[in-house]
Amino acid sequence: MEQLNGAPATGNHTNGHHHYHQPGATNHRLRKPGRISRPQFNSPRVSSEPIDTQNNNNNNNQQSACTDFDLAYFQSYNHLGIHEEMIKDRVRTETYRNAILQHQDYIKDKVVVDVGCGTGILSIFCAQAGARRVYAVDASDIATQASEVVKANNLSEIVIVLHGRVEDVEINEEVDVIISEWMGYMLLYESMLGSVITARDRWLKPGGLILPSNASLYIAPITRPERYSDTIDFWRNVYGIDMSPMLQLAKQCAFEEPSVEIINGENVLTWPHVVKYVDCYTVTSQELESVTTKFDFQSMMRATFNGFAFWFDVEFSARGTSTANSSSLLQNDNHPIEGSQRRKRANPSEALVLSTAPEEPPTHWRQTIIYFYEPIEVEQDQHIEGSVKLSQSRENCRFMNIHLEYTSGGRSFVKESVLR
Ligand SMILES: C[S@@+](CC[C@H](N)C(=O)[O-])C[C@H]1O[C@@H](n2cnc3c(N)ncnc32)[C@H](O)[C@@H]1O
Repeated sequence: MEQLNGAPATGNHTNGHHHYHQPGATNHRLRKPGRISRPQFNSPRVSSEPIDTQNNNNNNNQQSACTDFDLAYFQSYNHLGIHEEMIKDRVRTETYRNAILQHQDYIKDKVVVDVGCGTGILSIFCAQAGARRVYAVDASDIATQASEVVKANNLSEIVIVLHGRVEDVEINEEVDVIISEWMGYMLLYESMLGSVITARDRWLKPGGLILPSNASLYIAPITRPERYSDTIDFWRNVYGIDMSPMLQLAKQCAFEEPSVEIINGENVLTWPHVVKYVDCYTVTSQELESVTTKFDFQSMMRATFNGFAFWFDVEFSARGTSTANSSSLLQNDNHPIEGSQRRKRANPSEALVLSTAPEEPPTHWRQTIIYFYEPIEVEQDQHIEGSVKLSQSRENCRFMNIHLEYTSGGRSFVKESVLR
């Protein structure tokens, strides 16, 4: 097997893992312009103080112990800018609001928990939809603002803001509905879904509703030669000066880590492959630790093959509401099949879908691209076979290791990267 997409000759950068930062270590990583919207939590605060002593339930479970990385993660959500950008993402916020209105029958006079309420916006939508009580839980200091917002809207009788982790706060009743906006870049970055699972297992009534109800992560090969020429070929001639000695460094800087940016449908070489389908009613934390899938794409065109793109969609549907004996409902669900190619989204229930696909209007999640150091040329119908493994970083489960292997035109490549 060739190494691997031209790991730069400069040496110790063949693998993004080398750049991992320990808590308290000096962090040299630059903030990338493409990544300002979602939190960056690679500068953990070294502290062992509990986030909220009032709401702590002395949970001794090692699995849910709050680490320094978690504290840094919650701290990253203290900043208003992140919330502003999420709320201004109309595709995101309006789809959630429409989903709440569409499920008003399930919400009216019912008890809701909002996992990670942020500014409280989804909790307030639920209160407006007639919820009897909404527990709005957030471990970040933004919860203080959420409380004020609730007061300003005269909803303090209905919306109870709990400043603490979902894993730690106490809610002394079962809930009918869980709502949460937990999706990170390429769906699983941030690992927040684990906290939705915790909330589900702690409080959701049998037959209760989870919004969103399911999610799918996709991968597809892409062509984007202009990105390569803008960032790499640029160095060949700079004001008439040959700066080509910069080429290796430029490739390393531009393409070592996953890049969060907007592409469009024309960049995609063929139908996407379903990397992971998540049923929010049944998913377990263990199955999210590592996800592996094999793919076999066939390029629909002759093109320069620059890398792979990931994106996701989530669906808001009540069809999946399950009790212990109604799992047949889930069996009949016509959902994307893991490990297969998706040609057209099957949506017989006409459920609301929040999509971050390249052919859809852009969202603040954009798409996540793994670029190769060297592009390759593919012919129409040429196969691109391989596998991808996504795993939570052992040191910090909020980070994601991405291992990609692929073969095309008789050559094989591997690329390792870390989304952090
Ligand atoms: C993506 S934001 C969504 C905020 C808000 N729901 C919205 O839609 O605008 C996720 C929020 O969840 C919070 N969060 C993540 N994990 C949590 C946990 N385990 N317990 C409590 N809050 C959590 C974060 O602090 C952050 O404010």
